[in-house]
Amino acid sequence: MVEQDKTQGPMPAEQIRFGEPRRHLVNIDSISTSQLFTDCVIVGAGVAGLRAALEAADHRNIIVVCKAGLEDSNTWKAQGGIASVLRPDDSFESHIADTLRTGCGLCELDTVEQVVRQGPELVRQLQEWGAKFDRVNSEIDTTLEGGHSHARIIHAHGDETGRAIAETLIAKVKSQPRIKVIENFFTIDLLTDQENRCVGILGRCKNRGLQIIWASSTILATGGNGQLYRETTNPAVATADGLAMAYRAGAVLRDLEFVQFHPTTLYIAGASRALITETLRGEGAYLLDTKGRRFMKDYDEAGELAPRDVVSRAILAQMRKTDATHVYLDVRHLDKEYFARRFPMISDLCESFDIDVSHDLIPVRPSAHYMIGGVKTDASARTSIENLYACGEVASTGLHGANRLGSNSLLEGLVFGKIAGQAVVAREAMDAASLQHPAIQYQIPQSDRSRLDTADVRNSLRSLMWRNVGITRKAQPLNEAQEIIRFWHRYVMDKVFDTPEGWECQNMLTAALLIAHAAGLRKESRGVHYRMDHTQTDDKHFRKHIEVVRAN
Ligand code: FUM
Repeated sequence: MVEQDKTQGPMPAEQIRFGEPRRHLVNIDSISTSQLFTDCVIVGAGVAGLRAALEAADHRNIIVVCKAGLEDSNTWKAQGGIASVLRPDDSFESHIADTLRTGCGLCELDTVEQVVRQGPELVRQLQEWGAKFDRVNSEIDTTLEGGHSHARIIHAHGDETGRAIAETLIAKVKSQPRIKVIENFFTIDLLTDQENRCVGILGRCKNRGLQIIWASSTILATGGNGQLYRETTNPAVATADGLAMAYRAGAVLRDLEFVQFHPTTLYIAGASRALITETLRGEGAYLLDTKGRRFMKDYDEAGELAPRDVVSRAILAQMRKTDATHVYLDVRHLDKEYFARRFPMISDLCESFDIDVSHDLIPVRPSAHYMIGGVKTDASARTSIENLYACGEVASTGLHGANRLGSNSLLEGLVFGKIAGQAVVAREAMDAASLQHPAIQYQIPQSDRSRLDTADVRNSLRSLMWRNVGITRKAQPLNEAQEIIRFWHRYVMDKVFDTPEGWECQNMLTAALLIAHAAGLRKESRGVHYRMDHTQTDDKHFRKHIEVVRAN
């Protein structure tokens, strides 16, 4: 693998144009639809969306919409923490080097520098706003995660870091008179004018029905898409809506083949999967197979602390070798009281399934965790569509390259949330009053094709993605996945739904096809994208981004 150096400039990209007849998911008559007006609408209320709102709120009127409640986000569920350089024995150079090494030659260097260097200041600001990170004596406590060469993961209430950050930001947002939050608002589509500039969004508010929010600036912060996979750590809301609506609007998407799987989610057949934080391994937990053997050193010298992609593949291989549905995390040797204090969420979770961690092993297996690719953005969080910004998991800033270093994403959400907010403020004379919003009419022709049961399609899609576009991939299953998804497309994408379930199914099918297609194009293994038929990294042909854009 070629080392990344400061002289190389931005990574090259190959752009694919992909056919998609539908611009919108529903019929639109903007004149007869209920309307709101604002300077900036933010879609999504995780760390990135909320941080963006706070940055812009002194100068602009903001509406934040989220499809469920404020607590329904990946941010809220994050356990491990925020990676940031806070200890004297650590350095920016070391954090940058770890991020680049893990990103396997595909990171954008300027972005990595930008994010890592802003970390400490934004963490300090969170503390000023009330976030209480765990301390040892008077020092902020930091721990280790796979791929980090220093203990630099800060955490709050043990493993409730995401919740602590979200609560801090939510409280601050609620105290800002210029920010209005609308929960249970499902954003259906981005709206654009004749010149394809973003002019706001169309959505369905649970209480008021279809609504247009006209805005001079729109920030997409919709999070990820773990629900595309049968096994996922993500909440039910993570259905790739942002990715799909940006694609329909014509934004450039990038690096979609890079889906990160988390090695350890609780595996209890029949129960939904729950994250078991990597910091547990950082603090000494072992991985055992179902025969009781500690196996990670067979796969990587770093053992349990190898990067996530390595651990996920090793677990999968060991499950196959032992003909098992899972492996185990062993924490029996850790002090029980310390464990309960340090990992309260996992303690409660285990207790709820009668797992006594001082005697019992914790059954785990990998599952889909984080979308590395997304809507391509520049250093100012701008997408390829004028007036449209993206930040957080839905964006592809280039920080993660081909593999995300654990706990870099909350950091990225903070940094790029702030940058997006600043970018909105920096635009001159862009308040709601100066916005020219067009009349939008859009009619979808009636289709007489049969109706499929969208709940069934959704379940089948999730299984298909897990089997064919999962932790390990190869040509034939990837092709088969695309064929099957295209079949579903014919019967689902030609319909007009009037419920979030229908729109989610359409968004999931759209995103799944793009991901499977990108995974098929990258005929090499790099980071989280592992091809069993191309096991080597091929810098000569594939040290580049794959971009996808809708062909009109
Ligand atoms: O293992 C974890 O706590 C996950 C952290 C992350 O995805 O950044």
